[in-house]
Amino acid sequence: MRSHCVKVLGTGSGIPEGRLTNNDLEKMVETSDEWITARTGIKERRIVKPHESAATLSLQAAWTALERASVSPSELDVIIVATVTPEMPFPATACILQDQLGATKAACFDLEAGCTGFVYALSVAEKYLRGGGGEKALIIGVETLSRIVDWQDRSTCVLFGDGAGAAVLGIADEPGVLATYLGADGRGGPLLELPAGGSRIPPTSETIERRLHYIKMSGNEVFRFAVKIMEEASREVLRRARVPIEDVDLFVPHQANIRIIDSAAKRLGIPRDRIFLNVQKYGNTSSASIPIALNEAWEENRIFAGDLVLLVGFGAGLTWGSALIRW
Ligand code: ACO
Repeated sequence: MRSHCVKVLGTGSGIPEGRLTNNDLEKMVETSDEWITARTGIKERRIVKPHESAATLSLQAAWTALERASVSPSELDVIIVATVTPEMPFPATACILQDQLGATKAACFDLEAGCTGFVYALSVAEKYLRGGGGEKALIIGVETLSRIVDWQDRSTCVLFGDGAGAAVLGIADEPGVLATYLGADGRGGPLLELPAGGSRIPPTSETIERRLHYIKMSGNEVFRFAVKIMEEASREVLRRARVPIEDVDLFVPHQANIRIIDSAAKRLGIPRDRIFLNVQKYGNTSSASIPIALNEAWEENRIFAGDLVLLVGFGAGLTWGSALIRW
């Protein structure tokens, strides 16, 4: 009989080499290393070069994940790319990636769920495989946020960075993804948006002049929402999997702000040594944040076979999601 378990078979990342430190930002806007470090925990972020894009970062992450999973592109049944900064509005970045990988059998689509994109992709891919869609999936979270950040707005430009993370999932005989939980509240959409460039406000010289093609965010409101929802989403996925919080070996939260992570961890009673943190190195890379962190945790021997790993994220939409994985 066909197995109904889906496991993570391998992970990878695509990290641009270009670094932008807090000291560099001091020369661009009225800010300071002290302010950014104290308010966010971020010390530097990676920024793409002109020849890099969502597809180049995705490709790098994908090849590493495929190699580690010992899966060839021709075996992939589905590719999902989670992003708010796709290669272009269409075709989907997933289709561009499919062509570059030679993954001719795979169905492909992009998924947009703000910073929760990767957790959404994980949940959708797991259900697609379990529902009979095939044996192997490639899921990617990728962002080139430096292309949509307003470099004149100090309240947002210090927060974001670029990168990609990938995971290969496969049908397995033993449990992997134990439970997922996704949610959204569209009423909070205006708190974090990129107003122009879509069908409501198509691009014109006026929209460019009014800087409407850049990220707009109400930081305080997003902060309060994030702390509350990180706790709720963590508790809900644990409830669904019937696992007590003490059994979780590693928490891999969305890396937006160290203060958000610390506040949520305090509410949940999770000690720092069970939380993976890399926000200091990359800033908030939106959809790429959780898969980059997951991959780095594995590379740094923070995750071992059999460990319980909890992913939890929140983002534009507003959206949120969590996943509990037996590694
Ligand atoms: N440097 C120096 N001063 C600054 C900067 C800066 N870069 N940015 C803002 N300030 C100033 C403000 O102007 C304000 O000054 P004022 O008191 O004279 O008006 C003061 O610092 C305090 O500003 P606040 O916005 O109240 O600062 P806060 O402590 O809330 O921190 C921050 C701001 C870091 C943005 C915080 O609100 C936050 O992290 N929010 C969540 C953001 C987030 O996670 N977004 C991602 C969501 S996921 C996604 O989908 C992209």
